Amino acid sequence: MVSRVYARGNPGPSPITLIVILLLGVPILTSCQSVPPPDPEQALIAKGRALFFDETFDGNGRTCGTCHREDNNFTIDPAFIATLPADDALFVAEFTSALETLERPKLMRAFGLILENQDGFGDLENNFNLRGVPHTLGMRVSIDSRQGPRTGWSGDGAPGDGSLRSFATGAVIQHFTKSLNRIPDIDFRLPTDDELDALEAFQLSLGRQQDLTLSLPLKGTVAKRGQEIFLDNALGKCNACHFNAGANANPNIFGPDVGNMNFDTGVEDLPDQPADLTGEFVPPDDGLGTPGDGTFNTPPLVEAADTGPFFHNDSIETIEGAVAFYNGDAFNNSPAGQALAGATGSGINLDGTQVVEVAAFLRVINALENIRASIQLIEQSNRSSGARAKELLGLAVADTKDGIGVLIGGGLHPQAVAHLKEAKHRTRRAARSHFSRRSRAAAAIRELKQARAEMIE
Ligand code: HEC
Ligand code: HEC
Repeated sequence: MVSRVYARGNPGPSPITLIVILLLGVPILTSCQSVPPPDPEQALIAKGRALFFDETFDGNGRTCGTCHREDNNFTIDPAFIATLPADDALFVAEFTSALETLERPKLMRAFGLILENQDGFGDLENNFNLRGVPHTLGMRVSIDSRQGPRTGWSGDGAPGDGSLRSFATGAVIQHFTKSLNRIPDIDFRLPTDDELDALEAFQLSLGRQQDLTLSLPLKGTVAKRGQEIFLDNALGKCNACHFNAGANANPNIFGPDVGNMNFDTGVEDLPDQPADLTGEFVPPDDGLGTPGDGTFNTPPLVEAADTGPFFHNDSIETIEGAVAFYNGDAFNNSPAGQALAGATGSGINLDGTQVVEVAAFLRVINALENIRASIQLIEQSNRSSGARAKELLGLAVADTKDGIGVLIGGGLHPQAVAHLKEAKHRTRRAARSHFSRRSRAAAAIRELKQARAEMIE
């Protein structure tokens, strides 16, 4: 208070002093302060960002950002799809006759499913998979394995070696084509080596750059119990495959540097899958390889709660349902479920309370990640100017909103929700403000930190 009174009472420099400072100071400052040398890595990331969101590779108008939306956690879902205009490039199959069978529009709109030809373009009518769009966050820590990089739901990012670089080439051939002939330089152009480097650098910069170290000192009793169950090798057993709630397998079980593993957890065998109930043709998905071995790649869980629907086929809408999957026959009779039962003496068998507790844990770590990301975006905005500064604040708002959504969806931490709502409001005001943007941004960060303090020591 004292300092505020003082600040108000202090008249500050007179207008004449200000003019003198401006006239003398600016040239001195600009000549003394050497401009920092351009950071080559940041320049590459910026180039990758531009390619990701603007480059159509002379194709059908889609970009990587058509399906991996920055304001929607680099993925799309039915609710988001419903907000898009009819002429959005996502819907090319609906308005381009040569691309009529590029997608299955009904399943895309209802479940967010995208058509993929992981087993090649030989028999387009029958041989395809319908998969959800994974987010591309945290890939720095989620794609390396002993067998090399594992990208995509089955880990065999097409074509080639499964690396992020070749994945981009595969995505252009799969999604950007002007006709189903897929002839390079007629239907699209392939990314150059330089473009692949830039796309890779950009994608690796997204989201978390390191894994959590569990257990976290959580405050909420329900989420805290959920974490215990998650970590308990005799109860939840989740930490065996999702070590530290990430995408890598547990090195204490599978050996050092095991990285990101593939398992057949039986998701394909779930009964009454929503897409099947529509009566549309949904071919079975055989997972890694051609022909496939039925395995899929373990996704990270920190980013899961706000990026449903879940699993490669978007077969379960809620995070509670995704946790409950592990209690059912589809998992417990699967090769991975049987191996787990063999190693630990039983399958996974959680009760209703425990399912909700594990889901609460996943909701809370997601909200904590939303807070981390929001603060980072606001701080980046402080270092940027013009439209980009405003855009970054808009992205922070989107992340903060996700944090609110995942907590409210589980009836968790009402006080944290109140702080997050205030943070959202203040970040929006910062984006609209020209003169007091910094102070409003600082106030938003304070609210975000208070929200975090409600959830974790
Ligand atoms: C039409 C929608 C669509 C477009 C456009 C698209 N993707 Fe994807 N993306 C998907 C789907 C669906 C998957 C899952 C594919 C799989 O399981 O093999 C995916 C998976 C990925 C993955 C794997 C993520 C992980 O966690 O393993 C990366 C990386 C990726 N896309 C990058 C790109 C890039 C780069 C572009 C642009 C060159 C692009 N995508 C364009 C739909 C799209
Ligand atoms: C044997 C290894 C294994 C175990 C044990 C395991 N998971 Fe998984 N998990 C996977 C694999 C593999 C996938 C991807 C499956 C697919 O899409 O077909 C997955 C997917 C998920 C997803 C969906 C994520 C998304 O983005 O769609 C959630 C949520 C999840 N697991 C939570 C859990 C929880 C909670 C537990 C403990 C109760 C657990 N998992 C135990 C391997 C495992």
